[in-house]
Amino acid sequence: MKKINFSAEAIIYDDISELNKEDQKLMEEAKIAKSKSYAPYSEFNVGAALLLENGVIIHGNNQESAAYPSGMCAERVAVWKAGSEYPNMKIKKLAIVASSKNSTVDKPVGPCGACRQTLLEYEINQKAPFEVIFMGEVGKVVKTKSLVSLLPFSFDSSYL
Ligand code: THU
Repeated sequence: MKKINFSAEAIIYDDISELNKEDQKLMEEAKIAKSKSYAPYSEFNVGAALLLENGVIIHGNNQESAAYPSGMCAERVAVWKAGSEYPNMKIKKLAIVASSKNSTVDKPVGPCGACRQTLLEYEINQKAPFEVIFMGEVGKVVKTKSLVSLLPFSFDSSYL
């Protein structure tokens, strides 16, 4: 028997102005994506912007449905859009931003578990980590170096 400890590194910025220019721009793109989200049920709007290695920026946002479970998160909309339009293009980084119609989201909003698993698939396939940068409507911004750091003991194709 042995006990192990996990550690995951993240940088916490006090606000968006502390990010480098490329990250700030990507976060602004995520805000544009968020402004087009379709979330009439949760009234929680999420935007995602993916920067690909060829410089293309892909937008995604949450898309809901009256049959609630049929909706989809912003991150998966973005990564599947990238995967379908640029199948072999590496992802450099992903920015995520969220806000609510009912309160001010002042904590960074990280990707949900299902999105982490989906994003991990792309990170594994491209054999290179990509950064995930996330925030709420205002306040602190979190930046992680890779998906692996967000998902210990993850499932992957090696089990199949
Ligand atoms: N949502 C996302 O778009 N990304 C996440 O990682 C968490 C949740 C969306 C799904 C749903 O439309 C709304 O936020 C409330 O859960």
